Amino acid sequence: MGSTGNTLVVRVPAGQPPQLVQEQYPLPSPNAGQVQVKVSHVAQNPTDVQCFEVNAFEDGAVLGCDFVGEVTELGSGVTRLANGDVVAGLIWGGRRGQVPGLGGYSEYTVADQQISFKLPLGISKAQASTVPLAAATAWLALFSKGCLNLDRSSVTDTIVLVWDGSSSVGLYTIHLASICGFDVITTCSPRNADLVQSCGAKHVFDYNDPKVIEHITQAAPNLQHIFDTIGNTTSSSIASRALGDRKGNLCTVRPGKANTELVTPNTHVTDILVWTAFLKDHRYAQFHWPASLEDHELSRELFENLPTWFEQGLVKPNKPRVLQGLQAVTNGLQEYRDGIVSAYKIVYKL
Ligand SMILES: NC(=O)c1ccc[n+]([C@@H]2O[C@H](COP(=O)([O-])OP(=O)(O)OC[C@H]3O[C@@H](n4cnc5c(N)ncnc54)[C@H](OP(=O)(O)O)[C@@H]3O)[C@@H](O)[C@H]2O)c1
Repeated sequence: MGSTGNTLVVRVPAGQPPQLVQEQYPLPSPNAGQVQVKVSHVAQNPTDVQCFEVNAFEDGAVLGCDFVGEVTELGSGVTRLANGDVVAGLIWGGRRGQVPGLGGYSEYTVADQQISFKLPLGISKAQASTVPLAAATAWLALFSKGCLNLDRSSVTDTIVLVWDGSSSVGLYTIHLASICGFDVITTCSPRNADLVQSCGAKHVFDYNDPKVIEHITQAAPNLQHIFDTIGNTTSSSIASRALGDRKGNLCTVRPGKANTELVTPNTHVTDILVWTAFLKDHRYAQFHWPASLEDHELSRELFENLPTWFEQGLVKPNKPRVLQGLQAVTNGLQEYRDGIVSAYKIVYKL
C-alpha cells in the first residue's frame, strides 16, 4: 500500500449493527476540479448520525460532510485554490460519487474547488468547519427554484419565517436572508432569543408557546415564505398555520417532504437537498433530484462570497464545541442522539 492516512471507517460485521473503526486508508487523489486536503477540523452534522444509524452507505464508508484543512494536492483545472491554502468545504461523506465513500472523518479527503472557500482573517478553523453544509442548505432553501425561490431583486416587505432559527441551518438562514435584505422572523427556545436576534431576526418567538402562531400572525400578517429547518413530526404542520388563509410556500429540510402531510391546504410544500450543490443526479428511495446547473451556480456564488461576508462581519460563524480526535466521534454522535445540541455544532480537531 502507498501512503495512507488515519480514517474513521463504518464497518458492518455480519449480523451486527454498524461500528466506527479507525483504519489506515490510501490517500485520495483529486479528480479534475478537486483538491486533496489534509483535514484539521471536521464538523458533525445530523446526517452523519442518521446515515450511520440506518447504515445508509456500504461497509467501508467514511462519513463527514464539513471539513477545514490545508490543500496538499491539486487536480487538473484547479484555478481557485493553491497548495498550502487553508480551506473549508462541503463533501458528501459516506456516499459514492467523489472518491468512493470518503468523507471528512479522515486525515485526508478531497473537495470540489467550487464548493469550498479559503478562510478569511477573523474566523478560526473550528468556526469555519461549521459553515459549508449548513450555509449551503440555508442558501439553497432560500433561493433555489425548487425551494422558496425568493426574488433577490424585490425584497421590500418580504418576510421569511425561519422555524427554529437556533439550529445550525437556522442561524445561517437568518444571516443570509438578512444580508440580502429580507425581514426574518423566527422561533427558538427562549435561551437562544438574543443569539438569533444578533444574527438579524426582527422578531423571535418561543416555539413551545401555545400562542406562537397568533404572535407570528400579528408580527407578519402577510407572511408567504416559511423555512422549516427542523422537519420533525409537527414542525411543518404547526409552522404552516402562520400563513392563515393566504397561499404560501413552506420549504422543509426533510428531503422527500416527510412530515408535511398535515400542513394547511393552502401551503405549497417544497424541500431542500443540499447535495444539489454538486452537479450530479441524486436518488433517494422513490425520489429523484436531477442534476441542477442552477443550484450548482447558486452554491458556487455562495462559496465565492462567504470569505468577504465573514471578513466584513455580515455573517458570523456558528459556535463550535471542539472535541479532540476521531476517537471522540462516538461520544459526539451520542450527544446529538441525546437531543442536547442547542445553538452549537460539534467539531472534531484531528
Ligand atoms: N435536506 C438537507 O439537505 C439538509 C441539510 C442540512 C440539514 N438537514 C436537516 O436539518 C435539520 C437541522 O439540522 P441542523 O444541523 O441545523 O440541526 P441542529 O443544529 O443540530 O439543531 C439543533 C436545534 O434544533 C432545535 N430544536 C430541537 N427540537 C426542536 C423542536 N421540537 N422544535 C423546534 N426546534 C427544535 C434546537 O433549538 P432550541 O435549542 O432553540 O430549542 C436546537 O438549536 C436536521 O434534521 C438535518 O438532518 C437537512
